[in-house]
Amino acid sequence: MTKVATHYDQVAAVYDSQYDQKQGKIYYGHICSKVMENLPKRGKLLDLGCGTGLFMHRYVSSGGEAFGLDISRGMIIKAHGRDGSDVFSGNAEVLPFCDGVFDCISSILAFSYLQNPNSMLDESYRLLKPGGALSVCTLGHNMFTKMVPVAYRIGEKLKIKRVGVGTFKEHYYREDEIRELFEKAGFEDVKVERISFAHVDLKPSLYSIAKKVEPFVEEKVPYLAFNLCVSGKKPEK
Ligand SMILES: C[S@@+](CC[C@H](N)C(=O)[O-])C[C@H]1O[C@@H](n2cnc3c(N)ncnc32)[C@H](O)[C@@H]1O
Repeated sequence: MTKVATHYDQVAAVYDSQYDQKQGKIYYGHICSKVMENLPKRGKLLDLGCGTGLFMHRYVSSGGEAFGLDISRGMIIKAHGRDGSDVFSGNAEVLPFCDGVFDCISSILAFSYLQNPNSMLDESYRLLKPGGALSVCTLGHNMFTKMVPVAYRIGEKLKIKRVGVGTFKEHYYREDEIRELFEKAGFEDVKVERISFAHVDLKPSLYSIAKKVEPFVEEKVPYLAFNLCVSGKKPEK
């Protein structure tokens, strides 16, 4: 079992609580709507690193059909319990599905954990129908994530059991770097957008200020936006 799988098994029971409160709901909702914008509405979706199925639930509620895959069995059990959707245990880098069966593929806050992102992108391309869409949200390389590995290493030493805290050889992407990965895998119309400045961990007063300036930061100050939303299409033929 990988270290990341063990970690998410341990936090599966409390994972959703970070998005239960107002700030968490807004933060996660903002990410999900950006990812959703790049997906067809009522298609057949595969969510990679689906966790407890929060995004699958949104996709199903908006009229689609969703399948999930995650490396943590603890997270999968929660995802299955949510809507009874089909969820599979496995590594997003090697996908156990036939070619061309999905209309779209999503992955939210899981891409940074991949040790071989090329393989996940090649596999996603293989599974998509011609014209199908891939939409990913992942932590970008920015002012905040520069400090994250240090903070997480200290957190691990102090045995802090919080979602995501630990050393997992995560990689935070630059815009041109992730665009190149998508294009190398064959995706076209690749779009990279910065998203989220108001982070769920901020104190409520700071959060509301950050939320006000968030659109400006997303558009003009790349180094301050937390996440990148990246999308691409498999060519029609
Ligand atoms: C921060 S959580 C995000 C979960 C979910 N996508 C969400 O939006 O709430 C990261 C998830 O990625 C999963 N994960 C990490 N590496 C993975 C891999 N190589 N293959 C599949 N899942 C992976 C973890 O088990 C965890 O459930």
